[in-house]
Amino acid sequence: MTLYIKIFLLANLVWAVIALVLIIYGWWCAYRRKKVCLHKRIMEFLTIAAWLFISAYLIRFLVPSMEPLPVPERLIPWFAFHALVACIPLFGAPLLVWARLTGTDGGGLRGHLNGRHVTYGRILLPLWFFTHAGGIVNFLILY
Ligand code: HEM
Repeated sequence: MTLYIKIFLLANLVWAVIALVLIIYGWWCAYRRKKVCLHKRIMEFLTIAAWLFISAYLIRFLVPSMEPLPVPERLIPWFAFHALVACIPLFGAPLLVWARLTGTDGGGLRGHLNGRHVTYGRILLPLWFFTHAGGIVNFLILY
């Protein structure tokens, strides 16, 4: 394992723990309806960080000697399930952020998302939490 891979793994682990805390705190800020501005900032931060994280992970496949370690065959169903669940907040969160940041008026997709922000958010946040908790499990399984 190269030094870069070791650093990347450790960074993943640290980030997963930070993200789990931020997901809970970000939800709490919205739930109490008193720190909505902080909720907004945390959700923006988590969304950008999620895309940076996945980009860094995918770029590794293009760089020889930095590819992620191969997954044992018997664990492929779990990893596929984990990746599938991860895609839901990865694409869902930017949609909620986009809808909220571009105004609350009108119908269409934006109006639909804004009208059901709480419902979709309450679905996305547990899935997001599962994604990062699963990331920690993956680390423990593989390394
Ligand atoms: C950055 C853009 C965002 C803004 C400005 C924003 C704003 C708000 C506001 C004002 C509320 C209070 C309820 C309401 O007025 O509808 C709320 C609630 C909520 N938001 Fe967001 N939000 C954003 C992004 C997100 C994202 C990306 C998620 C989840 C992936 C999310 C999840 C939630 C949840 C779960 C609640 C309800 C809390 C509860 O009562 O359980 N929000 N948000």
